[in-house]
Amino acid sequence: MGAGIVEVFARGGVDVVAVEITPAALERGQATLTRSTDRAVARGRLTAADRDALLGRVTFAVGLAALGEVDLVIEAVPEQLDLKRRLFGELDRICKPGAILATNTSSLSVTEIAVATERPSQVIGMHFFNPAPVMKLVEVIRTVTTSTEVVEAVEALCARLGKVDVTITDRAGFIANALLFGYLNQAVAMVESRYVGREDLDAAMKLGCGLPMGPLALLDLIGLDTAYEILDTMYRRGGRDRRHAPAPLLRQMVTAGLLGRKSGQGFYQYAGPGSSTVV
Ligand code: 3HC
Repeated sequence: MGAGIVEVFARGGVDVVAVEITPAALERGQATLTRSTDRAVARGRLTAADRDALLGRVTFAVGLAALGEVDLVIEAVPEQLDLKRRLFGELDRICKPGAILATNTSSLSVTEIAVATERPSQVIGMHFFNPAPVMKLVEVIRTVTTSTEVVEAVEALCARLGKVDVTITDRAGFIANALLFGYLNQAVAMVESRYVGREDLDAAMKLGCGLPMGPLALLDLIGLDTAYEILDTMYRRGGRDRRHAPAPLLRQMVTAGLLGRKSGQGFYQYAGPGSSTVV
């Protein structure tokens, strides 16, 4: 999601430092940004000059050192609490005093991430939805320690970026994922039990319920590894609700490297890694 979030800010006229952990990951992120903005130009949604200006607002860097002078960091690393806590500890040391540290976590505790820093009043959740440049919502998560000034600054920023924010407190899955993931998990269980095939299941929800895409196609978009981690966290944090116990098939597909669009195969097969074209 990092590349999508970078695009949202650069489109909104904000200078962005896009940081990745390795040159190869940075290249993938750059390619995603280029593909997305090129598509916007091809569809007549963006002029070539505006695309160039947008890309000109983004500086790419490997490593956290490039973040010393920024006003806001949005972290979008994998959904693992230890990893996020370690990262926030480092960001706290590197970023200037007053910088806001936001996490794009989908289901982990923002509070537990905040207390890994010496500035928990400046830590907040900013949860974007996939694809970030398209989906309007940002869930803003305030913890018991987040300052009101930080909440208001982030809400104002969402408005500047053309997003609609809902501000909530820190609970597993927040609003949207708490409701969505029981449904997605149930869809996997239905296919696993061979009650229905993948195309029929997706058609039922798309054509019968007016959703933009079926649940299996949506899981491929989200990434099966991410979906698994979200379900697992919600299951453990949310009182072991059976609806969130990850379907065994999901676990098997992740183990086999079938991660959805990002790997080129999930419930559907795609033209290549990162492609949205089903073959
Ligand atoms: N990046 C940037 N832009 C994209 C994009 C991407 N990955 N995919 C599609 N778009 C843009 C297209 O360029 C197009 O823009 P335009 O209208 O300005 O020309 C617009 O989105 C519509 O795209 P398409 O015509 O290609 O296809 P669709 O009309 O089928 O829309 C979709 C694609 C927006 C992905 C739509 O199917 C959709 O809304 N799906 C549901 C997405 C959803 O539910 N997201 C939430 C997932 S949960 C989550 O993210 C939480 C997290 O914690 C896991």
